[in-house]
Amino acid sequence: MASLPELNNYMNQMWTDYIKMTPSAEKIYNLFTQSGENVLNDHIALRTFNHPQLGIHSLAQHFTKYGYKYAGEYFFKEKKLYAQHFQHANLNLPKIFISELELEKMSPFVQETLAQCVHQVSPAAIQNENFVFSGRHWTTSYATYLKLAQESEYASWVYAYGFRPNHFTVSINHLKNFTDIQRLNSFIKTNGFTLNASGGEVKGTPQELLEQSSTMAGEVPCQFGDGIYPIPGCYYEFAKRYAMTSGELYHGFIAKSADKIFESTNKQS
Ligand code: NI
Repeated sequence: MASLPELNNYMNQMWTDYIKMTPSAEKIYNLFTQSGENVLNDHIALRTFNHPQLGIHSLAQHFTKYGYKYAGEYFFKEKKLYAQHFQHANLNLPKIFISELELEKMSPFVQETLAQCVHQVSPAAIQNENFVFSGRHWTTSYATYLKLAQESEYASWVYAYGFRPNHFTVSINHLKNFTDIQRLNSFIKTNGFTLNASGGEVKGTPQELLEQSSTMAGEVPCQFGDGIYPIPGCYYEFAKRYAMTSGELYHGFIAKSADKIFESTNKQS
């Protein structure tokens, strides 16, 4: 099994790719550290399609080799998504949340477009552990992006960006001063960032054992085959976990909350 320093190095590479796309996350991270906080990640989220070559397993294999194990599954009927989460015996390490678009439930247009994308990904590239932050492996056009977005915002995001962390999530449980999610949200907004308000700024309740909030993904210039267009990029999330009756922290996810969090990459009107 690969070692802990190797795993930390791997995650640092993911973070470096993520903040290149998400300068707001780096700014928020710096605001926390400048106020004396030690920021740990609750989870890192990745997106893919359920194509046999590219399903959840193709990304998960790069984490299971570091000791991560399957720890739960989630269904998002309306968005036609399925997700699994993986966790490490060392619970200070971020959980890995991987979702996949259920291609068989999509229109022939989406199926065909994405099949052509998958066809351009080399099987060797998928086996490389850097695949999870390797970006896009196919040719694109802005018109196709827009057409995909009409049917599935998720499909259009993966089409535009390929494979890279969709978001990192600050573990509120590891913060000293921002232990209350409402207070943390005010701090984020006071500093000029927009929160995802779909379903309310705070998703979940202490009774559900998980509270989450997230920024809205800012627009970033994305290079398509036919030009550069600004489209929503990645976002930063915040999660607070509560103890179960056993006294142990809850480490799962709430599908109803995650469903709304997915909308953090929607285009802001
Ligand atoms: Ni998340």
